[in-house]
Amino acid sequence: MSHVLVSVAWPYANGDLHVGHLAGAYLPADIFARYHRLRGNHVLMVSGSDSHGTPVTIKADQEGVTPHQVFAKYHSRFLSAQQKIGISYSLFTHTDTENHHRVGQDIFLRLYECGHLYRQTQRLLFSESEDRFLPDRYVEGTCPNCGYESARGDQCDNCGKLLDALELIDPRSKTDGSTPVVRETEHYFLDLEGFAQQLADYLATDKDHWRSNVIHFARNYVAGGLKGRPITRDISWGIPVPLPGWEHKALYVWFEAVIGYLSASIEWAKNEGTPDAWKAWWYDPDALTYYFIGKDNIPFHAIIWPAELMGIGRLYDSNPANRLNLPYDVPANEFLNIESRQFSKSRSWAIWLPDILERYDPDAIRFYVTSIMPETRDSDFDWDDFVQRNNNELVATWGNLANRMLGFAYKRFGAVVPDPGVLRTADQELLQAVEAGFATVGERLAACQFRAALAEALALARSANKYLDTQAPWFEVDRNPDDAAKTVFTTLRAIDNLKTLFAPFLPFSSERLHGFLGYDRPLFGELAIRSFEEQAFSHDALVYDPTGATGRWERSQLPAGQPLRPPEPLFRKLEPTLSEEERARLGN
Ligand code: MF3
Ligand code: ZN
Repeated sequence: MSHVLVSVAWPYANGDLHVGHLAGAYLPADIFARYHRLRGNHVLMVSGSDSHGTPVTIKADQEGVTPHQVFAKYHSRFLSAQQKIGISYSLFTHTDTENHHRVGQDIFLRLYECGHLYRQTQRLLFSESEDRFLPDRYVEGTCPNCGYESARGDQCDNCGKLLDALELIDPRSKTDGSTPVVRETEHYFLDLEGFAQQLADYLATDKDHWRSNVIHFARNYVAGGLKGRPITRDISWGIPVPLPGWEHKALYVWFEAVIGYLSASIEWAKNEGTPDAWKAWWYDPDALTYYFIGKDNIPFHAIIWPAELMGIGRLYDSNPANRLNLPYDVPANEFLNIESRQFSKSRSWAIWLPDILERYDPDAIRFYVTSIMPETRDSDFDWDDFVQRNNNELVATWGNLANRMLGFAYKRFGAVVPDPGVLRTADQELLQAVEAGFATVGERLAACQFRAALAEALALARSANKYLDTQAPWFEVDRNPDDAAKTVFTTLRAIDNLKTLFAPFLPFSSERLHGFLGYDRPLFGELAIRSFEEQAFSHDALVYDPTGATGRWERSQLPAGQPLRPPEPLFRKLEPTLSEEERARLGN
């Protein structure tokens, strides 16, 4: 049994989660985690709200509230949306915990003491009216590249060029329109250049399992030359820099957010009452550590975070031979478009999770989003396609198979799994074909090929339908009840197997089906929102508790004679007119 760390990108707590987040990181991570749990591996799945940085302070300024209020609001919305859609984090916490502050500061100091940080003066824009340095996103001006008049200090939205705020022509503060001045300020830089060789070696070795776009991007990034990056900011919302005289500056949000993977693992272990338990994922070189992120985050996970880990070496551990594990894989996804157009928060071109969860079942959403997951290229969320796949695949191929067989067995075989006697060739063939799915679907899941894995499971459900149509036990049951019993038994076993094969993708319906099949103990554990107390802070978190889960990635042993429960439909058919209504919601 292996230790598998499932690290998931931390969403900025400045707006609701949308299907892009789900397709990009949370859903693939959850499918992967559930699969490994079924395999009996030790899974630690962590993430949390990214509470700091200008994305949150800008929103606070817009709404006239504090950054803390913004982050607290969205953190709590993240918890409930993700609980509803079943993202089974061992711990989904946030970066404004006392624990995370401490780990972030410890790592900063460690890098400082090991000589991986240097101090340098920067020239930045300063607002005299507000008496503060302006973060890049707070400045607007004319793009030196294309002449667009509302370019942001970090990037021009018109031509896409990355900018330094000092390059803007006629810069002005977004807050009050005043003209900022250039002032000097000192910051700490992470000496990335010093890690260039180690990073190149890391990216050159054992990366055949990486997605080609990810590894190419990362190698090019290093080959293009690494420069030191400032990791402190003149901003008050964040983790104070832990050096005397520097307390009024904060750690750069990206520097500390990636540390969240480690700090959340530590917090999880502490919450469990086994404070050293996190080390099995972070120090055992055989542990597999995965990072599920969107492609815009690749530099931070394939370059910067590995550099931080290399620089720390070990932390909270006395064994000098121990080294923190570098990412084993970074299966970054591409982007998800909506009805052929790019997601845009400002144009309201988005599908928000709290909203669609009010109208659709979580498994219907999970099914569609998996089937269009942007694993190797950008893909498109299309409402017509959503309705069609729901009706033709989820309902017609999988749901109806389970539904008609369970209903039939319940009514005509006394609500128990019938005794088949000796199985016929066709029965054995179907079961062998479906059972082969544990290897074929499993391999694809382990390789992070979630679309292909789902397609494979669906193909097996099709074989079961075909078998059932051929055997047609509803005609046999009166004239040839023994044959009908063989068919019903075989189909129920096939369904029981398919239930497990679909479980990582469709945990809610698989759990219900598991109950209809007469099992008493659940496939999965419980996903709950819990409160945790720290000295100065208290916070809510999402926690998956695997206790009592009995699901196993193994072929069905459904016994003859097992009593069935009254079945209900697993999925709902959707009206084709829905897609029109949903499209009308976009853009307003
Ligand atoms: N908050 C970032 C975003 O939404 C992602 C941070 S991932 C982390 O793009 F690992 F750095 F936390
Ligand atoms: Zn431009």
